Formats: sequence, structure tokens, C-alpha cells
Amino acid sequence: MKKILLLLVLGVFLLSGALLSASGDVAVEEEYDEDTYGPEDPIVWTKPVKSVVFDHKIHTMGAELDCDSCHDDLFEMEAGVAEENEDFTMDTLYEGGYCGGCHDGSTAFASNTRCTACHIGVRGHARLLGETADGGKSH
Ligand code: HEC
Ligand code: HEC
Ligand code: HEC
Repeated sequence: MKKILLLLVLGVFLLSGALLSASGDVAVEEEYDEDTYGPEDPIVWTKPVKSVVFDHKIHTMGAELDCDSCHDDLFEMEAGVAEENEDFTMDTLYEGGYCGGCHDGSTAFASNTRCTACHIGVRGHARLLGETADGGKSH
């Protein structure tokens, strides 16, 4: 069920992108308010492994979390900061750091389960870069 939702969300993403580039129509775009829910584009980390994805929409619009449940205790409000830290690893997650602050098996699914929910791998990364217009040259 949640997977279907995620696919739907991705679908809307693609559709709005297509509509925008085709005709400048912004009808679909307006439904997601970044001030209320955080950045629309997913955050993608490629270090230490390629690659892990984080989606604000799932967490704010979906799980109804406030910004300050993550910012700035668990994460800075700037993409790419966490992956510069040497402790951005599964061991830290298992100890309750970063995503593990919630993904501990009680607040949300545990970090030692469902690897591919967070890890989209090398192919997923390539697909994301193909899909988001500005993603390809961000390094
Ligand atoms: C469940 C955790 C979580 C919640 C809740 C959350 N964020 Fe984030 N946010 C993140 C993570 C993770 C990053 C990336 C940090 C990094 O890469 O080090 C991020 C990054 C950002 C960025 C920087 C994006 C960029 O491209 O540099 C902004 C802006 C932001 N968040 C705004 C918000 C706002 C506004 C809210 C509330 C509506 C919110 N966030 C709620 C986890 C969260
Ligand atoms: C403040 C708490 C919190 C933090 C921190 C957090 N999450 Fe979540 N996350 C949730 C909740 C709550 C859900 C929805 C309930 C669930 O799926 O267990 C969720 C759902 C998800 C899902 C959707 C899974 C699915 O298919 O249903 C993914 C993927 C995910 N989180 C990844 C991450 C990643 C990656 C990080 C770290 C960058 C992170 N989360 C940090 C609370 C959090
Ligand atoms: C809640 C999200 C989440 C889940 C679930 C998750 N990971 Fe991770 N994982 C991350 C994040 C975030 C990083 C650090 C960013 C990166 O490497 O791109 C990471 C990094 C890693 C790394 C490299 C760093 C290290 O610890 O050695 C490995 C290996 C890894 N994960 C394996 C797994 C395996 C195997 C599973 C399933 C048993 C899993 N992960 C489940 C979020 C998750």
C-alpha cells in the first residue's frame, strides 16, 4: 500500500515535470507547498554507499512530522552535510543517530530491516538523475 503511494507520488512528480516543460502549466505543482512540507526534490546521498534517498513528502505531508523533529538535532537544513560526517553509517543509525532516531522499530520501521526502502542503489541513483533536471551536475 505504501509502495503504491510512493509510486503515485513519483508519478505526480514526473507528470508535473512533463507538464511544466511541455506547456508551462503549473496546475499540479501547486499542491505541494515547500514552506509547509520541506523541499520537494528527494535528498540523495552517495557516501559512503551509493545511494540512499530521503523524501520530505513522506515524512512531513505523509507521516505528519514537524520540521523540528529532525532539524537541527538529527540533520542540518542543508543537503549533503550528513554525508560529510564519518559517522554517517549503519552502526550510528542502529545506535539512534540520524535516521535511526526514529527508524528503530518503534517510531518507524527499524534500520536493520527493509534495506531497499532507503537504499535505492546505483541503478536507482542513475534513474533519479535522469528524472530530475538539475541533479546530474550537483557534485
Ligand atoms: C524526518 C526528518 C526530516 C523532517 C521531519 C524534515 N526534514 Fe528537512 N531535511 C532532512 C534531511 C535528512 C535533510 C538533508 C540533510 C543532509 O543531507 O545532511 C534535510 C534538508 C532540508 C533542507 C535543505 C535542502 C537542500 O537542498 O539543501 C531544507 C530547506 C529542509 N530540510 C527543510 C525542512 C522543512 C521546512 C521541514 C518541515 C516542513 C523539514 N525540512 C522537515 C530531514 C527532515
Ligand atoms: C523524526 C522521525 C524520523 C526520522 C528522523 C526519519 N524517519 Fe523515515 N519515517 C518516519 C515515519 C514515522 C515514517 C512512516 C512510518 C513507517 O513507514 O514506519 C517513515 C517512513 C520512511 C520511509 C517510507 C518507507 C515506506 O515505503 O513506507 C522511508 C524510505 C524513510 N522513512 C527513510 C528515512 C531515511 C533515509 C531517513 C534518514 C535520512 C529517515 N527516514 C529519517 C520517521 C522518521
Ligand atoms: C532508514 C533508512 C535505512 C535503512 C532501512 C537501511 N539503511 Fe543503510 N544507510 C542509510 C544511510 C542514511 C546511510 C549513509 C548514507 C550513504 O551511505 O549513502 C547508509 C549506509 C549504509 C552502508 C555504508 C555505511 C556502513 O555502515 O558501512 C551500508 C553497508 C548499508 N547502509 C547497508 C544497509 C543494509 C544491509 C540494510 C538493511 C539490513 C540497510 N543498510 C538499511 C540508511 C538506511
